Amino acid sequence: MSQIAVDKNLCKKDGACIKVCPAGVLAADTEGFPAEIPDSHCILCGHCVAVCPTGALTHSGLPAEPALPAAKNWPSPEAMDGFLMSRRSVREFKDKPVAKEVLESLLDIARRAPTAANSQLLRWIVVEGKQKLHTIAEEIVEGMRASGVNPAFLKQWEGGYDFVMRGASTLVVAIAPADYTWRREDSAIALTYFELAAEARGLGVCWAGYLTRCATLYAPLRQLLAVPEGFVVCGALMLGEGTYRYRQVPPRKPLSVQWN
Ligand SMILES: Cc1cc2nc3c(=O)[nH]c(=O)nc-3n(C[C@H](O)[C@H](O)[C@H](O)COP(=O)(O)O)c2cc1C
Repeated sequence: MSQIAVDKNLCKKDGACIKVCPAGVLAADTEGFPAEIPDSHCILCGHCVAVCPTGALTHSGLPAEPALPAAKNWPSPEAMDGFLMSRRSVREFKDKPVAKEVLESLLDIARRAPTAANSQLLRWIVVEGKQKLHTIAEEIVEGMRASGVNPAFLKQWEGGYDFVMRGASTLVVAIAPADYTWRREDSAIALTYFELAAEARGLGVCWAGYLTRCATLYAPLRQLLAVPEGFVVCGALMLGEGTYRYRQVPPRKPLSVQWN
């Protein structure tokens, strides 16, 4: 049975829904209205519904939540470029929690990031509270000791500086099924969405690379994070309110491009 219903009074037969469908699920019927091709494979991306200027399409396979209106006023290129260039990894945090509503809104943005074939297989673990994060850092340092840690880092740790969690109040971990091919790509994009949305809200964020690395090698860390069976840690961010503001965009290596 077709998952797509067309209101023939609203449909203008412009064919946009047919053209944008990434899976070639739709074709014009004998009257020119879009119709689902039998045995086609819809990836539930919602583009057919979202592109229709008259709201003529409904799709029964999409999640029940209402579609939101698309933003009309996008940031100017100057605003966007300035934002992207000016964000920095933050490693000094104020002793302040991030409000739950803010975390929920950031996770909501992250779940809208692109995923391969719209698979949406990522799940999230959120850890709140500086002390809990420090306990995780302790486990990571244990894991690092087991696999050979840079002595300079260990010296910092023993001197009382947490170079792993850096005093952040919140940790967000992206996990995915271990057998999911695109887990690295999907998680990197989703975490980047989360990061940028957090920075747009004035929060400081830093990727928690030590955690990701250690989670693949050291089972006690996975247990501490309560990673479900069959899932792997793909990436993580630490966040909180940053202490310092950056005044300049630091230089980077020259661009290396092969124009073919
Ligand atoms: C995958 C990944 C892992 C990272 N892991 C850490 C980390 O464990 N600790 C840390 O302080 N910074 C970490 N960073 C931050 C990088 O050091 C940082 O992005 C880089 O130095 C450039 O600085 P910027 O983000 O301010 O431009 C990581 C970044 C990425 C992308």
